[in-house]
Amino acid sequence: MYQRSTPSLSTLRKIRIPATQWRAVAKFLRFALTTTFLHAVAASASGGPILTPKPGPQPKINGPTVYGARRGKPFLYRIPCTGQRPLQFSATGLPASLTLNNETGIIEGLAPQVDGSYPVILKATNRKGTVTRKFIIVVGDRIALTPPMGWNDWYTHYDRVTDAVMRDAANAMVASGMADFGYQYVNIDDAWMVKPGSDDPMLGGAPRDADGAIRPNRRFPDMKALAAYIHSKGLKAGLYSSPGPLTCAEFAGSYQHEKADAQKFADWGFDFLKYDWCSYGSLVPPKGHRTTEDYNKPYTLMGNLLKEQSRDIVFNLCQYGQGDVWSWGDSVGANSWRTTGDLGIEPRTSLPGFYTVGFANARHADFAAPGLWNDPDYILIGNIGNAHDFVQPAKLTDLTPDEQYSYMSMWVLMASPLFFSGDMSKLDPFTLNILCNSEVIDIDQDALGRQAQVIAKNDSEFILAKPMADGSLALGLFNLGREEKKMSVEWNQLGLAGTQTVRDVWRQKNIGHSEGQYATTVNPHGVALVRLSETSK
Ligand code: GLA
Repeated sequence: MYQRSTPSLSTLRKIRIPATQWRAVAKFLRFALTTTFLHAVAASASGGPILTPKPGPQPKINGPTVYGARRGKPFLYRIPCTGQRPLQFSATGLPASLTLNNETGIIEGLAPQVDGSYPVILKATNRKGTVTRKFIIVVGDRIALTPPMGWNDWYTHYDRVTDAVMRDAANAMVASGMADFGYQYVNIDDAWMVKPGSDDPMLGGAPRDADGAIRPNRRFPDMKALAAYIHSKGLKAGLYSSPGPLTCAEFAGSYQHEKADAQKFADWGFDFLKYDWCSYGSLVPPKGHRTTEDYNKPYTLMGNLLKEQSRDIVFNLCQYGQGDVWSWGDSVGANSWRTTGDLGIEPRTSLPGFYTVGFANARHADFAAPGLWNDPDYILIGNIGNAHDFVQPAKLTDLTPDEQYSYMSMWVLMASPLFFSGDMSKLDPFTLNILCNSEVIDIDQDALGRQAQVIAKNDSEFILAKPMADGSLALGLFNLGREEKKMSVEWNQLGLAGTQTVRDVWRQKNIGHSEGQYATTVNPHGVALVRLSETSK
């Protein structure tokens, strides 16, 4: 509506304005532009209040403080940093096998040959100031010491994904500022390979070459060049396969070609593999008759192969939580495992589907640790496709702003991998405010690597508490009801004592001191996300 009442720029250019009227015209223009902008933001943001403070012009380094790499393997890390450009980066304590580009903040090279902890101080400077942040590189067997963060194309592009979509997403990850908050992986989901039997010339053909190597479909002319492009931005590239003969969308899977595929993925330069059960179910006894070995065999095979490769490849299991995957994911070399079915098709109850998935995922808190993460699936906000009908165009989420704050808060408290799966070409300010709050992300990326414990769960409330490396406690009070609600939690429920300083994490503001309990009023389907630290005497 606002577009119709606001003159277009070309119309304005044609109007001749007497010099005496310029002040009034300027005033009108300021009004028109402001209202247009506000309407545009409101329209694209479901009218939600933006709680995340805008990052200042001073440099601020974000992201994890601990980072795992394997001996002698290629290393790539773009220092996530907000602040006015140009920035100058430097680092002290960087192992000799690594180099930092002072302008881009990209660290590259080979991980040291000797296992151990390499403490580094990262530094960023601009005209407004200087900041440092500790960053410990831990060389050893474990990678993904904090939950991986990035974007996965599935819920926007489904079986239409292309090389151009992935390159554009990498560009958008940098241009939108997401990379400055630690988003790093740009991951292709299903549908990059050949679709056996398809008569679509872009998708059909022989799934493998004469040597048995997997072939991408015609929408992906050069996988190696694609990974290199993503790497050139300092980002990492991920892809997808299935241990079955076919993927869930019926493209070629890795069954009986696991070794060749693992080698190919590494040779192309990919850093992340999502390995999705799909048609593997036809190779084992029916549900109810399967052993744990039936479930973990294909993952053991691929997990071992990935470790033999010449690069670090994060291994993401996707088999929907079957066979209690959280209890054996570590033993097959997984870094994360989906704990439930697809969030995008999870039916709404009195609450949107992400709550059901979140409640289920929360039960497995004891299995999360650095390098080992429960995965409750992607962050489906912003412009998002319809998982029941791929043909429908992506549209703005119908989650309320409070539900979106709850979604992100629940995911970070659960130390979940943080993968946005909405449309990267239509990132609106409200969505970015949900995805890019450095203090919210710090909860997820905390070096202790603990998943929040459930403190309370009933029909009207859900309370999660996550111990943090600095001794503080991240706490989320989720109101599950349709009315505003007074909520509280006692120190003895949290193992706390004395006076605690309370910080509102979304607003990045201390809001006072509390003794004995924390009490607040929470919006319908909303959350209070706070961090409690012992008040110094
Ligand atoms: C399964 C997975 C989804 C997605 C699709 C692709 O449903 O759980 O995350 O990867 O397959 O076909």
